[in-house]
Amino acid sequence: MCGITGYLGDGDSVELIAQGLKNLEYRGYDSAGVAVVDDDVNVYKQEGTIDGITLPDSEPTAYGIGHTRWSTHGPPSDRNAHPHTDCTGDIAVVHNGIISNYHELKADLDGHIFESDTDTEVIPHLIEEELADGVDLLPAVQRVLDRLEGSFAIGVGQAGSERLIGARQDSPLVVGHGEDGTFLASDVTAFIEQTKFVSYLEDGDVVDVGVDGATVYNDGEVVDREPQEIKWDAEDTSKAGHDHYMHKEIHEQPHALRQTLSGRVDETAGKVDLELDLGDELLEGIDRVHIVACGTSYHAGLYAKRLFETYSGLSVEVSRASEYRVHDGHDPENTLAVAITQSGETADTLSAIRTAKSIGTPTLAVTNTVGSTVTREVDDTVYIRAGPEIGVAATKTFVSQVATLALVAVHAGRVRGTISASKAASFLQSVNQLPSAVQEVLNSEAVIERIAEKYADSESFFFIGKAYGHPVALESALKLKEISYEHAEGFPAGELKHGPLALVTEQTPVIALLTEGTEAAETMSNVKEVQSRGAPVIGLSSDSGKSEFCEELIEVPEMGEMEPVVANVALQLLAYHVADLKGRAIDKPRNLAKSVTVE
Ligand code: M6R
Repeated sequence: MCGITGYLGDGDSVELIAQGLKNLEYRGYDSAGVAVVDDDVNVYKQEGTIDGITLPDSEPTAYGIGHTRWSTHGPPSDRNAHPHTDCTGDIAVVHNGIISNYHELKADLDGHIFESDTDTEVIPHLIEEELADGVDLLPAVQRVLDRLEGSFAIGVGQAGSERLIGARQDSPLVVGHGEDGTFLASDVTAFIEQTKFVSYLEDGDVVDVGVDGATVYNDGEVVDREPQEIKWDAEDTSKAGHDHYMHKEIHEQPHALRQTLSGRVDETAGKVDLELDLGDELLEGIDRVHIVACGTSYHAGLYAKRLFETYSGLSVEVSRASEYRVHDGHDPENTLAVAITQSGETADTLSAIRTAKSIGTPTLAVTNTVGSTVTREVDDTVYIRAGPEIGVAATKTFVSQVATLALVAVHAGRVRGTISASKAASFLQSVNQLPSAVQEVLNSEAVIERIAEKYADSESFFFIGKAYGHPVALESALKLKEISYEHAEGFPAGELKHGPLALVTEQTPVIALLTEGTEAAETMSNVKEVQSRGAPVIGLSSDSGKSEFCEELIEVPEMGEMEPVVANVALQLLAYHVADLKGRAIDKPRNLAKSVTVE
């Protein structure tokens, strides 16, 4: 996730764009840049935040575009910072999202000079080609958009044109209507001090901003995107109107998942492309995987264990990174060590991966953070592309980790021949449905909030689940305890009767995963055990018939073995609302840090 802003009007363009970028820093902050457009284009950009860049004073006729970056292609550096330009230096482009076919597009741009490792840079060069054919800026951009695949929002400026062009496809872009000029931005946060009148662009929209305001096109036709008045204030801005980052990040999950999957899944062929450097030979030669991770990432690892075992025929051990040891007699050549870490900086995980490396085990990282320490130490990295997560509680990174690991499992299975193309295709179909399934759960937030109100004052909360339900039970309990400070435990459903059942009373709500992929019929007998001790049961299922066996049922869409990870989103909301009712410091819970860099 990156932040885009642009301005064309009578105001101080440079100042307004720089302010917009500061406001958008919560979307990414590893590099920043501004293109000041007039009769020529001047670009000011570097690694770090906008504060580190010396910008010129604005000329009255100047306008421009700016960007604050969260890397997806190419590490944070001056050369990878946006805006990117074409060979003539007359076109500047900023971009949020992923151009999934950029390799193919780049191959067509023979003779063009590329200066960065980004996917974005193909765009100004493609526009350059169109302009060379004598086409005007707007149709040139439209033609280029027809060739782009992936999810993106872009802003384009051209020397001497007095126009800013923006476009949106699966990535947000809004137009701000100010008194003295027009703004373009990833979200309202960028310009809320200047105007509260906003047009929300829709997928496929292209906006042409000139001195007289903005015109929006879709499919070549002018469309009306009626300005709406924003009700919230500047101080709420980086949370985009949400009370907490955690709440915002929970709601960003459909978008995060789209980014995770973008350009990687060929559902029809049952294939996955992760651009892995680790060769097929290695995946064919191993017979086991050691996953090392902590906290939420460890729970994603437990989920992945089942996916790997089902789809790639690999035997998987998942270790809490702080407990990872390599035993005598272990054969490193048959093993792949996988570090799961959203930050890429967790000391325990780094230490575990170093242990694996020290005996010659090949290593892979699954992380959210380009350029993080783990990426520099492992043999290969797969990014989860969830965008920056500010709340200490991991939410969107968990679902993106699970989705990414599902893709790794299918890829390994196809390479190893343990899964047919048709089985892979049908599983990938449900993986592709994750964004809409998660959105469906988010739409039922009012139900979950009511349940939170009903049980918020309970003594303790138990979460139970079998199979894929077990990691979700552990993860949901972790979420509730870390932000509400209430006692919560997750158990394999069948374990209750071996001890924890002694703690169950009518004051202990039991949250039961009864979805697909959780052997729900067996968990139902555990539900009966706790109900007969007076505990209220909150079930999660895609089968509405389960409501007659539970005090409350949270319904989730049918998703096969990905159903529990979708149910997890409902339990993030449950944790959030319990903590909110108790007035906890949700984004920065006591004693915890976002990135744990000590062992
Ligand atoms: O950055 P990492 O994924 O390596 O972090 C691991 C844990 O510290 C982290 O998942 C922690 O458990 C979460 N903040 C819990 O919400």
